Amino acid sequence: MIPTPHIGVKEQGVIAKVVLMPGDPLRAKFIAETFLEDVVQFNTVRNMFGYTGTYKGEKISVMGSGMGMPSIGIYSYELYAYYGVEKIIRVGSCGAYSDKLNLYDVIVVKDAYSESTFGKVAYGDDREIMPSSKELTEELLEISKKLGIKVFYETIHSSDVFYHHSDDFKFTDLVEKYNCMAVEMESFALFHNANYFKKQAACLLTVSDSLVTHEATTAEERQLAFDQMIKIALEVIK
Ligand code: HPA
Repeated sequence: MIPTPHIGVKEQGVIAKVVLMPGDPLRAKFIAETFLEDVVQFNTVRNMFGYTGTYKGEKISVMGSGMGMPSIGIYSYELYAYYGVEKIIRVGSCGAYSDKLNLYDVIVVKDAYSESTFGKVAYGDDREIMPSSKELTEELLEISKKLGIKVFYETIHSSDVFYHHSDDFKFTDLVEKYNCMAVEMESFALFHNANYFKKQAACLLTVSDSLVTHEATTAEERQLAFDQMIKIALEVIK
């Protein structure tokens, strides 16, 4: 079934077996232009830009996921199901739930807790904590060590909601109950799709704001910190 409703690629082999997925399609463009060679753009549908290029001679793709589980759910599904993608590494940002995390710290995601119904509705899978793929995640940890980049290995919260105005929601409850150290909005759905297709998924996050200290980074500052994370992810294909 290609092209798919959301990816305008008509042939196999255009998209690499390893795909880096930032949330922002313009960040996908930046990664492709900054780190890859021989870049070809493969997707413009809905401006969810996707590119294939080479890194140290190895073929790799990078594509935006959009924000939230419905969006990454669609793109990662189509990549795994219809384009032969084997590994997706999400490279995103997160908000810190703990003061042990500072702005710009990098997290390798161990697993994702979520209140989302994604797994139940898509696969009849009731789990509320989904692990990242062990092998791929261990590879990311090893690469970080080799590159001398300090990373945290943590459980995170994949949230369905960015703006909370309910007295029933306290992020501190999630820290206490599930040991969630940070929040983003995509990993849980990505891990469910990988699990269903027996493929691999992992996630690297840079802390962009803190719900504890209320500090936040600017867009320009985020870009710099982001580069470290990309360097870790790119070494996976070497
Ligand atoms: N909440 C949810 N997702 C996020 C945040 C946040 O504070 N920061 C970066 N992604």
